Amino acid sequence: MEASALQALAGRKIVLGVTGGIAAYKAVEITSRLKKAGAEVHVIMTRGAENFVTELTFREISGQPVTTDMWAKVAHYHVEHIALANLADAVLIAPATANVIAKAACGLADDMLTTTLLATKAPVFVAPAMNTNMYENPVTQRNLRELAARGFHLIEPDSGMLACGVSGKGRLPEPADVVGILADFFAKGQELAGRKILVTAGGTIEPLDPVRYLGNRSTGRMGYAIAQQAANRGAEVVLISAPSALSAPAGVRIVRVETAREMREAVLREFPDSDIVIKAAAVADYRPKVVAANKIKKQEGEFTLVLERNPDILYELGQKKTHQLLIGFAAETTDVETYARKKLAKKNLDFIVANDVSEEGAGFGVETNRVRIFARDGQAWEYPLLSKMELGGIILDHVEKLLKAK
Ligand code: PMT
Repeated sequence: MEASALQALAGRKIVLGVTGGIAAYKAVEITSRLKKAGAEVHVIMTRGAENFVTELTFREISGQPVTTDMWAKVAHYHVEHIALANLADAVLIAPATANVIAKAACGLADDMLTTTLLATKAPVFVAPAMNTNMYENPVTQRNLRELAARGFHLIEPDSGMLACGVSGKGRLPEPADVVGILADFFAKGQELAGRKILVTAGGTIEPLDPVRYLGNRSTGRMGYAIAQQAANRGAEVVLISAPSALSAPAGVRIVRVETAREMREAVLREFPDSDIVIKAAAVADYRPKVVAANKIKKQEGEFTLVLERNPDILYELGQKKTHQLLIGFAAETTDVETYARKKLAKKNLDFIVANDVSEEGAGFGVETNRVRIFARDGQAWEYPLLSKMELGGIILDHVEKLLKAK
């Protein structure tokens, strides 16, 4: 990575968590490279890490106190785990053992590193390094997916000869590459600064009576991931969310709605001064024509429900748009390209993200997605199965390209 690209690290406060793996020695070089790039590095070592590298090494190289013991008397920080969690512009765990990954996935907080992780709102980067079998173990993979779904940035391990004598995946990437990923993140952080992005997520619900509603299977994950990535890149993000069990991404203003009409109102309020709108929400096309004031009672025979059309919010935005970039989704089960291109044209979009929601691992509910992107100039891109967080980044890369071309 060129020195100019590393400039994005200057002045950043990085909390580096070092855990007990043989690759802990590489964390020394990571500290040194971050420091040379102008970052302020605060190292937290787990007990396991102390078996591989000394605290003195990190203290000398970082020029900062090193934290090892959660219960030690602390002179350098005020309420230490909260202080480190708050001061971090980013937390990097390198190397990350299977153990720390499992603890983070469960939300355990039994040492200074895991406590800091639970308390921080900063973006977290995790660089797994371990024996191949441990890395490929379904439990570790499930834990990594859980972290990815929560917005952690996973740094893919390299393949090669491992310290245990086995050849395979599980090596901590070279320190220069790890530092490059962080630099890239902060460089990207500037790309969307000064832009307001409106993201919609989740499935709207349409009441039938005081206890029942019509809904769909959207969890909100896709939209929340886009919102998180946009905030990470410095945008002002408003997330208009239909009901979802997910918590609001860090640095995002969330507006909670239930029905399509409530979503429309919230979207139209935020639309005029937005620069970019990304509509990942699954909006109900119909709602019950009559909402019963009291619980509908069982009756003999069939029950007929009359539905009426909901407004098409994205279509309306397409008619109203002035300077905004407009990005829609298409959830299809057949003829994906044909339907997606029709929606792209009809709704006057800049591009559309199409997912075949009948495919395994794609669409509703799951933590991954497989999409194709169709642009108004006819270009198309196809992506493999990726985490929704990664796809959020890819969608924003397309947005950034369009902004530059404007
Ligand atoms: O939330 P997850 O569980 O992570 O699932 C993600 C997802 C499958 C919901 C997401 O990837 C997705 O495909 N979102 C769009 C779902 C959808 O409603 O697609 P559609 O093809 O019916 O609508 C096309 C576009 O018009 C969408 O951008 C939609 O937000 C918008 N729309 C649709 C109807 C309507 N009345 N108003 C709208 O604005």
